[in-house]
Amino acid sequence: MDAKYLGGLISRITKGAKVVIVSNREPAMHERDVGGVRIVRPASGMVAALEPIVRATGGTWVAHGSGSADRLVTDDKGRVSMPPEDPRYTLRRVWLTRKEENGYYYSLSNQALWPLCHIVYTRPRFSRQDWETYRDVNRRFCDTVLEEVEGGPAIVFIQDYHLALLPRMLRIARPDLTLIHFWHIPWPNREAFRIFPWGEELLDGLLGNDVLGFHIQYHCNNFMDTVDRGIEAKVDYERFSIFRGGRPTHVRAFPISVDFHQIGKDVASQRVEEKHASFIKELGDGILETKVFVGADRIDYTKGIPERMKAFDLMLKDHPELRGKVTLLQLAAPSRTHIEEYRNINEELDDLVDEINWRHQTEDWTPIRYLRAHHDYHAVLASYRMADVVMVTSLHDGMNLVAKEFISARADGDGVLLLSQYTGAARELPDALLVNPYDIDELADAMFEAFRMTEKERKKRMKRMRVQVQKHTVYDWGAKIFEALEGILPVREVA
Ligand code: G6P
Repeated sequence: MDAKYLGGLISRITKGAKVVIVSNREPAMHERDVGGVRIVRPASGMVAALEPIVRATGGTWVAHGSGSADRLVTDDKGRVSMPPEDPRYTLRRVWLTRKEENGYYYSLSNQALWPLCHIVYTRPRFSRQDWETYRDVNRRFCDTVLEEVEGGPAIVFIQDYHLALLPRMLRIARPDLTLIHFWHIPWPNREAFRIFPWGEELLDGLLGNDVLGFHIQYHCNNFMDTVDRGIEAKVDYERFSIFRGGRPTHVRAFPISVDFHQIGKDVASQRVEEKHASFIKELGDGILETKVFVGADRIDYTKGIPERMKAFDLMLKDHPELRGKVTLLQLAAPSRTHIEEYRNINEELDDLVDEINWRHQTEDWTPIRYLRAHHDYHAVLASYRMADVVMVTSLHDGMNLVAKEFISARADGDGVLLLSQYTGAARELPDALLVNPYDIDELADAMFEAFRMTEKERKKRMKRMRVQVQKHTVYDWGAKIFEALEGILPVREVA
């Protein structure tokens, strides 16, 4: 399955109807820079997955315009063709005031729904005013989508927890639209969900969809159960569908993935070569004489970054002979820094790095190299190339695409993946070293096992993981979602 095939499949299924993708985060942000404007691709698993799909299908992507130079490059409707050098789709930006961004994005989405759905013992915060702002902003997205579909037939493909009320709003305004929603984060069990004060309205919003997708079956089951026990609706476990208001919502698992072949090509590109060289320049070539344990994450309390550092520290305490022989290279992208919990984890990480380095470092070796910055796609690929081990230690993660990107990048067939059992990816990748990141002793043991793993064993595991990711790429994900539509909806003829 490739981009071309998916493009063909989608136009056959959609029969010329417009495809509109909607998300909070935009696929590209225009940022002011010395002497002009530069394009930044955000650190977002959602964007990484959707970008190749929208390039293949064309259409319009509606998202919040959050870059400092976004307004400079759009027309008076907020539209800009993307990518600028080879336009494939239209990006339509939704403008929000700072107050709206605070209530809808920082507060309701990321201080209420994000911790509620991940359950990593960070308490969600609820405020009625934020919920009202969230509703208003969803309404704004609704108006924008309606403008983009221009009264014609369309398939609207909504992303994530920022836009839970949008489907019902669209359904009321335009009963003929086809609505798909993919929830990129976990769906919690009903016990955890029931504390959400506006549960009924949120669930009703999502039940405006024709298809609602999650990464894994377990999250589908949780959703069915949440609705069954929480609100009035007919829940059909035979067909995995829910009826509310006479029209079914089909709940399905679609494990998201990456563009395996493109990553394989890009990792061999000149740009990655250059990034690789600049890393070596920055870190010193001594790093290549050590085994490099790489982490590449947004700085988020769900990612298990402190746990990873503590386990690395413990491994060095338990095995002092490893001093000078291993390096933890952590690429860390600042994220959601207006939120207290995110500022706290930033401080915690700074302190941990100082403390661990102070404890173990020697004159010519530093155990943890912590690079806090936004690292672009090519830099992340360069880090995978340098890695002997990549560590994904999320406390909870819907899927986690770092794991699959790393595997796709290792055409040499080598490298170890250390993977949290609480990621969606763990279900597909039993050949990774699976760990419980809450158990620091176990994590340290797994790191040591990764250090000692023989080349034969590494290659055997990597080979199987590459087969899995190659067979299930992001295009297969897109195809499955649109095929599900084909199976369950009456096919509309387009005039
Ligand atoms: C997760 C969410 C995405 C989000 C990304 C980055 O992957 O599922 O929707 O874009 O985190 O977070 P941000 O808040 O920067 O968009």
